[in-house]
Amino acid sequence: MDSLLHALINKKQADTTGQFYKDVTAGLKSTPKRLNSKYFYDANGDKLFQELMNCEEYYPTNCEMEIFTQQTADICDVMIGDGDDFDMIELGAGDATKSTYLLKYLLEQKADFSYLPIDISANVISYLNVTLPVTLPGLKIAGLNGDYFDMLKKAAARSNRRKVVLFLGSNIGNMPVSDAEGFCRELRNHLSPGDMVLIGVDLKKNPKTILAAYNDKEGITKRFNLNLLERANRELDANFNLAKFEHYPMYDPETGACKSYLISTEEQDVKIGKENIHFAKDEYIYMEISQKFSVMQTNQMADGAGFNPLNIFFDSKKWFIDAIWLAE
Ligand code: AVI
Repeated sequence: MDSLLHALINKKQADTTGQFYKDVTAGLKSTPKRLNSKYFYDANGDKLFQELMNCEEYYPTNCEMEIFTQQTADICDVMIGDGDDFDMIELGAGDATKSTYLLKYLLEQKADFSYLPIDISANVISYLNVTLPVTLPGLKIAGLNGDYFDMLKKAAARSNRRKVVLFLGSNIGNMPVSDAEGFCRELRNHLSPGDMVLIGVDLKKNPKTILAAYNDKEGITKRFNLNLLERANRELDANFNLAKFEHYPMYDPETGACKSYLISTEEQDVKIGKENIHFAKDEYIYMEISQKFSVMQTNQMADGAGFNPLNIFFDSKKWFIDAIWLAE
């Protein structure tokens, strides 16, 4: 068959009724223009994020991995506490590389626990449900596919065991500070006194180190951002010309906000479904925030949400922490 005809027949119908379309068009019609970084993670975005985690400048993953591999026993001992059984719930589990270190140690200690990974991706959950019991024989696992808080409710309805919630990778930083505080309060509302949270947070540090992590030489972060425009082209019948957008990351050491923008290099019009979006030359789209915190700020955030910040585990460079918060 003629390849153009084939491409046309196979072209997926653009979904101009779904949430993705609504959020993209609303974000680009607002002033200033913005897009939500939660949409970075389609199959291509997942691959680019994997690449990013392996690139030289992106330090947070290595720092947290060092904490998990070097301080496994100390972290797990706090989780085990008096030894009563518990559910370990991971928000946004991904491939569970880091948590696998904890799971392995907990199994060796014969801790009585179940692992409930929660992820928005159904693929991730079925992958974990199948692979983890093979790599970790004896593991009790029940993956939950869906929204964090809906699934937390579901997990709570299933068992009234003590809960230990993992929220790793400094994902908390991808929310503006006031949203992050609201998220912690909502998390606390879903938990009971005695439950715990293990949260990974990227710390403020030399501004050049932070900026370099979001401006890698290979240009993976740039492709990661541009992929959202490509995704709109693929899924929303948009016609972004990627060559006409530049990646602009910045870090403000005063506020700890690391932000990424895409800048329109010329005046242009872009079609998205039935909408036409006008860009002035040099107009920006605000793409992502990766907020950095001081240790004191994380303690205050815990406090303000009704948690007692119990323990803090640092990596050797003191660039990243995994903190354990106890619900009061
Ligand atoms: C997933 N999240 C914590 C990453 C971060 O560092 O904000 C996403 C990312 N964006 C650019 N590089 C990595």
